Amino acid sequence: MNNPYQPWLATIDKITEEVKGARAIKTFQLKFLDREVQQHFSFQPGQCVMVGLFGVGECMVAISSSPTKKESLEVSIMKQGKVTSAFHEYQQGDIVGVRGPYGNGFNVDSWLGKNIVFIGGGIGQAPLRSVINYIIDNRRRYRNLDIIYGARSSSELCFKNELFELEKRDDVHVHLSIDHEEEAWNRYVGFVPDNLLKIAPPSHNTIAVTCGPPVMIQFVIKNLLHLGFTDEQIYTTLEMRMKCGIGKCGRCNIGNVYVCKEGPVFSYKKLKSITGER
Ligand SMILES: Cc1cc2nc3c(=O)[nH]c(=O)nc-3n(C[C@H](O)[C@H](O)[C@H](O)COP(=O)(O)OP(=O)(O)OC[C@H]3O[C@@H](n4cnc5c(N)ncnc54)[C@H](O)[C@@H]3O)c2cc1C
Ligand code: FES
Repeated sequence: MNNPYQPWLATIDKITEEVKGARAIKTFQLKFLDREVQQHFSFQPGQCVMVGLFGVGECMVAISSSPTKKESLEVSIMKQGKVTSAFHEYQQGDIVGVRGPYGNGFNVDSWLGKNIVFIGGGIGQAPLRSVINYIIDNRRRYRNLDIIYGARSSSELCFKNELFELEKRDDVHVHLSIDHEEEAWNRYVGFVPDNLLKIAPPSHNTIAVTCGPPVMIQFVIKNLLHLGFTDEQIYTTLEMRMKCGIGKCGRCNIGNVYVCKEGPVFSYKKLKSITGER
């Protein structure tokens, strides 16, 4: 494609209501109208796309399906403002624009033979779902797989049914939590960083990946360091405001790093070097 701003057209093939209410989340399964585009659209888990609603605007979102799923592409979108609220009104069969994939994604090949711990909160589970499903589809190439995920309440847990299914497997350890007590909830009650400390995954030969609200990420990283993880073993994603997605508009930069191009995935070591944190 010559014009980098020109989207491919995709139809909404299926809509799954993940979370209801003010902070509603829906997963949209998209299929490119052009079969060749669908066949050749390749991406790394953790990469994003710009989804455009004609006459409304665009928003940058993580691809929440695994690249191993070739026949469609999924994005999971929380109702936030103008574009995302309009998207929630869209129906099966409606057409959207998609451009991308953008950013760097997770370097899953460098994690071969390692234990992986995912620590997610709220809609932050969207990019993690992509990489989790990729690892499940390549299960023998990775060692222990722990998924620590929480939300404010059980009704706000995203991808709940999939996570309940994963709980039944003996080669995946799922640790779900909600912030406050609820009748019939027999899993952990409390914040995600506290659940991480309770589970205390061994740091040896382990990669930890965290995504969620900034305050959660901050405490998760603090607790990972406490558990003996090094800066190089910790990965997270940054959600800066993005407009172009291709390093042109200058909306997303931290210093001279364009998050839309060099991110959104960063090791904690790299993140510290670009933010000047010690
Ligand atoms: C790399 C990346 C990946 C993302 N992945 C997802 C995803 O998988 N699912 C998802 O639901 N959302 C994701 N987002 C956030 C999503 O892009 C914003 O929610 C969306 O652009 C808001 O558009 P809007 O027009 O609905 O809201 P607006 O009307 O523009 O704003 C509504 C509210 O959201 C705030 N807001 C807008 N953009 C952002 C942002 N980037 N970060 C924090 N606050 C923001 C505004 O300040 C305002 O308070 C991602 C963002 C980035 C940069
Ligand atoms: S979004 Fe425009 S430079 Fe990154």
